[in-house]
Amino acid sequence: MQGRVLSGMRPTGKLHFGHYHGVLANWLKLQEEYECFFFIADWHALTTDYAAPQSIAENSRQMVLDWLSIGIDPARSTIFRQSSIPAHAELFVLLSMITPLPWLERNPTYKEQMQEIRDKDLHTFGFLGYPVLQTADIIVYKANKVPVGLDQAPHLELSREITRRFNNFYGPVFPEPETILTASPKVLGTDGRKMSKSYNNSIFLSDPPEAVEQKMLTMMTDTARKRRTDTGNPDVCPLFITFHTLYSDGKTIEWVREGCATAAIGCMECKRSVIPKVLDFLRPIQEKRRELEKDPSLVSSILEAGSKKASLVASETMAHVRSAMGLS
Ligand code: TRP
Ligand code: SF4
Repeated sequence: MQGRVLSGMRPTGKLHFGHYHGVLANWLKLQEEYECFFFIADWHALTTDYAAPQSIAENSRQMVLDWLSIGIDPARSTIFRQSSIPAHAELFVLLSMITPLPWLERNPTYKEQMQEIRDKDLHTFGFLGYPVLQTADIIVYKANKVPVGLDQAPHLELSREITRRFNNFYGPVFPEPETILTASPKVLGTDGRKMSKSYNNSIFLSDPPEAVEQKMLTMMTDTARKRRTDTGNPDVCPLFITFHTLYSDGKTIEWVREGCATAAIGCMECKRSVIPKVLDFLRPIQEKRRELEKDPSLVSSILEAGSKKASLVASETMAHVRSAMGLS
């Protein structure tokens, strides 16, 4: 195994199809080939939820249960919690000394979130420094590859810039982390926007089959197809884009394309042809989740073991960092 993979997620609770196809499918693949570190970014959750941190613990547990049920394997991958590893914070302080403020202020994700999130005051040092902490998360494990969703690409670009700057000042301590994007099509929610918990349009991996069916049956389709007799276009249909492309075979897709364009099939019939495929995909995942849930201390023991392993690697890096910076 050459190279180390690292990725994290903010603990937002139960995961949905967007998480699966946007990031987790990649984690699963990489787990086969690399030494992987996957962690709960609970400090990052505080950058926006500092005033109401009560749900972070339960959200973290639910997220880890989803990771395990889709097949992230603690025997292969190191699973841990950011806040258990103080080295992330130490490296964050050191990186904050060398990170020029304008780099953070011009970060597109920062500007966008400042605009969009109106119900929280994000004029904090921690929120501006989000990508600096994220850089520390990555390079404290000297990770080579970072699988993330497309929305994280600007952060990763900043991470590389900060890493280069560090290496220029203090010598080649860190590899430059490479971004691994999932080549997946867009995963849209029931309302046709990007699937996102905050839009209330998500289908969760742990939704009961009846709920999945209900959500899919009411999911938005080609909005121009108002009546059964109207023809439609699958390429602008959120249900098609998200579910048929990912779960239907070539023959079904042909049947849909033809039937939709000629109004030979209706949207309900079309939806009903893919719902069983989606439920088949979820069944083993949900069975595994029910198994895992039987042991109430499972998640905490996995995190404890993972934190021990992560801590060893991170401490070694910090010794290297301190000596490169003349702090030892
Ligand atoms: N910012 C990432 C997200 O919102 C989470 C994250 C924190 C992360 N640190 C990271 C991802 C390091 C990859 C590498 O999903
Ligand atoms: Fe979408 Fe299928 Fe309806 Fe066409 S027939 S608009 S692809 S749900």
